[in-house]
Amino acid sequence: MEARRKIIIGNWKMNGRSKDLVDIDLLFKKIPQQEIDIVIAPPATLLYELKGLNTPKNLLLSGQNCHQVESGAYTGEISAAMLKDAGANYVILGHSERRTVYKETSTLVRLKALEAVKQGLTPIICVGEHLKSYENNQTLSVIERQLKVSLNSKIICDNLVIAYEPVWAIGSNKTPSPEEIEKVHSFIKNHISERFGEHATNHCRIIYGGSVNKNNALKIFSLINVDGGLIGGASLKATDFLELIMIMQNSLN
Ligand code: PGA
Repeated sequence: MEARRKIIIGNWKMNGRSKDLVDIDLLFKKIPQQEIDIVIAPPATLLYELKGLNTPKNLLLSGQNCHQVESGAYTGEISAAMLKDAGANYVILGHSERRTVYKETSTLVRLKALEAVKQGLTPIICVGEHLKSYENNQTLSVIERQLKVSLNSKIICDNLVIAYEPVWAIGSNKTPSPEEIEKVHSFIKNHISERFGEHATNHCRIIYGGSVNKNNALKIFSLINVDGGLIGGASLKATDFLELIMIMQNSLN
């Protein structure tokens, strides 16, 4: 089996302006060049500017959301083609903030993912349960439903990323136990394997997100079925994000 490269993704959410890019150079200079893939998902307004900086080869850019059609009369929306044009390679889809605040369904996530793939973007598809489902032991059934509807064979491209992000863990300083994370990741892996076969299983990366910080990162990144991390708060400062990148690097040894 081919080893999947670990990937760390910084999701800046609705944070960041040009003036905040001053210390990004530090990140660019210090990140390890080879071993892991690094992705930054800035607000769409900064994609083009970031692309213009001297970004290392293993640092790619991502959008945080896209529309499900290519262009048209959709005021305020941004298409996958536009993200690609501005320098993105990836796009985060179905983040719990989109699902909860903007009522995005798994069906919509699938349509967006299809459009993203059509435009040459790699989807980062987020799934995760609310606290109530976690407490009622329904995590796996929630994840299964989200995966069943959000994915189909046309979305299974070689770099596809699935992010397990328990909604209650995001920005809360709480995380599931390592055993719980491992259980969900291995469940997702089996789901991919049963539906899409061995090649997809070997290439799709399953990453964890939700309150990852310098204290818990090594444990989480070292889990067998965790191929990386989706980082919110701790990706906003270049020095904090760099620290997590280095921890991921250490988890390889
Ligand atoms: P957090 O956010 O790291 O701040 O918990 C993760 C995310 O929302 O992707």
